[in-house]
Amino acid sequence: MNKFIACFLVAVAIFASVPMFAKNNSSQKEVQQTLSIIKPDAVAANKIGAITANIEGSGLKVVAMRMTQMTQDQAALFYAVHKDRPFYKTLIEFMSSGPVVVMVLEGDNAVEAYRTLMGATDPAKALPGTLRKDFGASVERNAVHGSDSLENAQTEIKFFFTPGQIYSKTK
Ligand code: CMP
Repeated sequence: MNKFIACFLVAVAIFASVPMFAKNNSSQKEVQQTLSIIKPDAVAANKIGAITANIEGSGLKVVAMRMTQMTQDQAALFYAVHKDRPFYKTLIEFMSSGPVVVMVLEGDNAVEAYRTLMGATDPAKALPGTLRKDFGASVERNAVHGSDSLENAQTEIKFFFTPGQIYSKTK
């Protein structure tokens, strides 16, 4: 290998190791899946279609969907990460109080994209045009849930769906 090629390879290696040029930087698009729940308040208010239209309008694809009513035990397990929070008991009572619609959403950076579409947890603090601003009433009755990380998305998707129930556009 001549000196010129060796220098070129070293330069490429240095360039690729700088975070802003590295392949896995966070600004890159990655097709992901995330879990969405249309909560009992929004289902009771007849907003399944309106919320789903917003989701599809944002470019996210619905690749799995069903209606179910969680038992208190299931809701307690799903939200176990919040078990020490003061709102845990009322949260599981509310989430098991009526049917919900669970969906797997797929798209570029789906976890973050859906969290942006949902808006802040508290509808009063959510930006105009977000799902929680438009359909939520309070921090508990906030219309929708979405996974907060890719790792949690994988766990939450498995909670409701088997791989054979997910009609991925890319996998
Ligand atoms: P969700 O995205 O489903 O995740 C956990 C839920 O807990 C959250 O939405 C809220 O509905 C609820 N939650 C979070 N903070 C509070 C709070 N301070 N009081 C009541 N409920 C809360």
